[in-house]
Amino acid sequence: MYLKYCQLLLLFSVSLADGFGFFDIGNTFNYLNKELYSLASNWDGDVKTRWIKQELDHFDPEEKRTWKMRYFQRLTYWRSNGPIYLLLGGESEASSRWTTTGIMQELAKETKGAMFVSEHRYYGKSKPLNTTDIRNFKFLNSRQATADNAKLLKYIKSWRMFNNSKVVVIGGSYSGNLAAWMRMLYPELVDAALASSAPVLAKKDFYEYLEKVNDNYEQYGTSECLDNIRNTFERYDRLLQSSEGINLLKEEENICQDCDLTVLKNRQVFFSEKVSKFMIYSQYGNTKNIKEHCKKLNTSLKLQILDKTSKPNFWVARKGCYYYDFDKMIEEYKDKENEWVIAWIYQTCTEFGYFQTTSSKSQPFTNNIGLNFYIEMCSVLFGTDFDEKRVDSGIRDTNVFYGGRTPNVTKVVFTNGDLDPWSTLGVLEDLSYNAPAVVIPRSSHCRDLFSNRENDIEELKEARIHIKYLIKNWIGAGDFFSN
Ligand SMILES: *[C@@H]1O[C@H](CO)[C@@H](O)[C@H](O)[C@H]1NC(C)=O
Ligand SMILES: *[C@@H]1O[C@H](CO)[C@@H](O)[C@H](O)[C@H]1NC(C)=O
Ligand SMILES: *[C@@H]1O[C@H](CO)[C@@H](O)[C@H](O)[C@H]1NC(C)=O
Ligand SMILES: *[C@@H]1O[C@H](CO)[C@@H](O)[C@H](O)[C@H]1NC(C)=O
Repeated sequence: MYLKYCQLLLLFSVSLADGFGFFDIGNTFNYLNKELYSLASNWDGDVKTRWIKQELDHFDPEEKRTWKMRYFQRLTYWRSNGPIYLLLGGESEASSRWTTTGIMQELAKETKGAMFVSEHRYYGKSKPLNTTDIRNFKFLNSRQATADNAKLLKYIKSWRMFNNSKVVVIGGSYSGNLAAWMRMLYPELVDAALASSAPVLAKKDFYEYLEKVNDNYEQYGTSECLDNIRNTFERYDRLLQSSEGINLLKEEENICQDCDLTVLKNRQVFFSEKVSKFMIYSQYGNTKNIKEHCKKLNTSLKLQILDKTSKPNFWVARKGCYYYDFDKMIEEYKDKENEWVIAWIYQTCTEFGYFQTTSSKSQPFTNNIGLNFYIEMCSVLFGTDFDEKRVDSGIRDTNVFYGGRTPNVTKVVFTNGDLDPWSTLGVLEDLSYNAPAVVIPRSSHCRDLFSNRENDIEELKEARIHIKYLIKNWIGAGDFFSN
C-alpha cells in the first residue's frame, strides 16, 4: 500500500524497480514481490501463464467490452480431490513465485493442492483499457476485482479434475481485504480465506499509522530516540519558516537551489520523504532494525544518509541535489511507466483513503502532512470532482458494503503483525470462533505469507503453523492429508 506516493516515486531517471522507498511502503505488493524474487531463485519452472477473458463491467449488462486477465497456475503437488489455492493479486504486477515459496506453496504441498495466482485488473499485464485517458480508470475498483476472481474460480472449478475441490483464497494487505471479501461475497465459490495484514476499514485521515510508528520507536528504540526525532523535525519546521532557515536547510540537506520550499505542497513532499524513513522500519522491519535506526539517528541528526550506490527518491543525479516538488512529482506519476502507481492512488481516492497524515499529536514528526496534501493529489490527477466530498462518500460506501472491521464472514483468518501500522485498520479480535484474529507480536506487514526464515522469531513461526492448521481444518484436509 502506499504510504505517500510522493516519496515513493523515485523521481527522475530512476527505475521503479530499484531502490527502497516510498513506493514500497505505499505499495505492499511491489515490496513483497521484490522480497520474493530475492528468495525464490531456483524454482521448478513448471508454472503456466494463462489468460482469461473478463467483462469490463461485471455489473452493467449494457457494457459489452471484455479484456484479458493474466493468472499463473502450478499443479506440481496436485492430487485428485486436492484443494484449489488462489493467491489474489493486489496493487501491482502479480508474481508466479508465490507458487514456489511461502504459505500458499506450503499449504499446497501439505494438502496436495493446486496453486493459482491472479493479477488484479489495471496492474501488471492485466490492463483492460489504455489509462492515458484517466476516465478509463472508471472500471478499477475492488468490487470488479472480486468479480474477476469469482469468474476465474468458476472457470477453474468447471474443470472435471476439480469437481470435488475446496477453494482457499489468500491475500495480503489490500489483497488481504479482497480475500476476506471474496469469502463474504462468494461463499458458494470460496470455502476459506487467509486475510493477511488486511486494512479492512477504509479511512480518510489515517493518523493511526504514525501513532503506531511512534509507539514502535518508543517501545523498541533507544531511550532518547523519540526526543531526537521530535527535535529534528521541529528544527526542520522552524527552518522552513524563514528564508535564511530555508537556505541553511538546503545546504545541510543538499536540496537543489531552485527547489521552492516556500510552497506548502513542496514542503509536504519534503516531510513525506523524511517521515518515510521511519515508516519503512515499522511496516517492513523488526525491533532490531528500529533500534539500529535509533542509534544512527543519535550520532547524526541528519536523517538522509546518502549511500552512494542507492538511488534515493527525489535525487536529481544530473544536478547532484534533491528536488522536492509537488508538480514535478505529479508529472512523474503520469509517466507511462508509473501507471500502476496512479492506479493505486485512484483506488485510495475513490474507495479507501488510507491517507497517512501527521494530524495526531501522539507522534514526533510535527504536523506538516495534512489531508489536503492527499486530496490535492486526487484532484490534480483525476479531475476537480475528485474532491474531499467524493473521497468521503467513496469511503463510506466501501465500509457500508463490506462491513468495515466486522465483515460478515466465517472461515476467514485475519492475521496482523503487531509492529505493522496497517494493523490499526485491521481485525485484531476474533469476529467469531470461525473468524479468528491472529496478532503476531513484533512482526511486520504480511510476514505470515512467507515461509520460515533464519531470523524469524518463534511467535511468527508458530503463527504460520496455526494459520495452516485453521485452513486445513476448514477445508477438511486436517486429518486426511496431514502426513
Ligand atoms: C494510449 O493512448 C495514448 C494517447 O491516445 C497513445 O499515445 C498510446 O499509444 C496508447 N497506448 C496504447 C498501449 O495503446
Ligand atoms: C467428478 O468427476 C469424476 C470423474 O473425473 C466423476 O467420477 C465424479 O462423479 C464427478 N463428481 C461430481 C460431483 O461431479
Ligand atoms: C546518544 O546521545 C546522547 C546525548 O547526546 C549521548 O549521551 C549518548 O552517548 C549517545 N549514544 C550513542 C549510542 O551514541
Ligand atoms: C451474514 O451472512 C449470513 C450467511 O451468508 C446471512 O444469513 C446473514 O443474514 C448475514 N448477516 C448480516 C448481518 O448481513
